[in-house]
Amino acid sequence: MGQIKACLFDLDGVIVDTAKYHYIAWRELAAELGFEFTEEDNERLKGVSRMTSLNILLEIGGVTLSDEEKLRLAEKKNENYRTFILKMQPDEILPGAEAFLKELKAQGIKIALGSASKNAMTILDRLQLTDLFEAIIDGTKVTEAKPDPEVFLKGAEALGVNPDECVVFEDAEAGVEAALAGNMRCVGIGSPDVLGKANIVVDGLHQMNYEKLMELN
Ligand code: BG6
Ligand code: MG
Repeated sequence: MGQIKACLFDLDGVIVDTAKYHYIAWRELAAELGFEFTEEDNERLKGVSRMTSLNILLEIGGVTLSDEEKLRLAEKKNENYRTFILKMQPDEILPGAEAFLKELKAQGIKIALGSASKNAMTILDRLQLTDLFEAIIDGTKVTEAKPDPEVFLKGAEALGVNPDECVVFEDAEAGVEAALAGNMRCVGIGSPDVLGKANIVVDGLHQMNYEKLMELN
């Protein structure tokens, strides 16, 4: 592994808790289709693309639909979800995230976003964090979903660094796998039970600082 030169951040669950808004919107869709969708079910959608999320939801409800109908429902869910994220405020940034990003920047570490979300730009703008990222790779710029490393490899390329000079911050198992598949180090955000493959696991970015990052060198 090379010296750490860059950090790549997942968005949902690392910088902001959007899972609660995704949950409300998916639950309403499930209710319209006539079945219950629980918070536990929602855990399965973390880090997973919008269409895959819908497929999991339909499987839970035992519902089969045409591709056309699925596209319509995914769009409907997204419109509902966007009513929540369009109201987000910077005080919804998760504890320690902004301070850590600013510390990295001050230390000359390059920063990129690596998210599956097609709403990432909207969210970063609402949180007033867009300017802290030198590169933003989101769901509109990739064809392969995590655990494929595409999103992070594109981030490294955009920053002009090698994968083995990057550290990824991820809250989803598929995201940790994507980082490792890309030959990058990974800090898991959440439970060691789920993210055990990561190099270290912390509760949140409030537990990170530059010094702790350098221990991964
Ligand atoms: C990921 C979330 O970051 O983005 C998933 O963890 C979500 O839950 C995915 O499904 C896609 O998001 P969007 O905003 O494009 O529907
Ligand atoms: Mg995430």
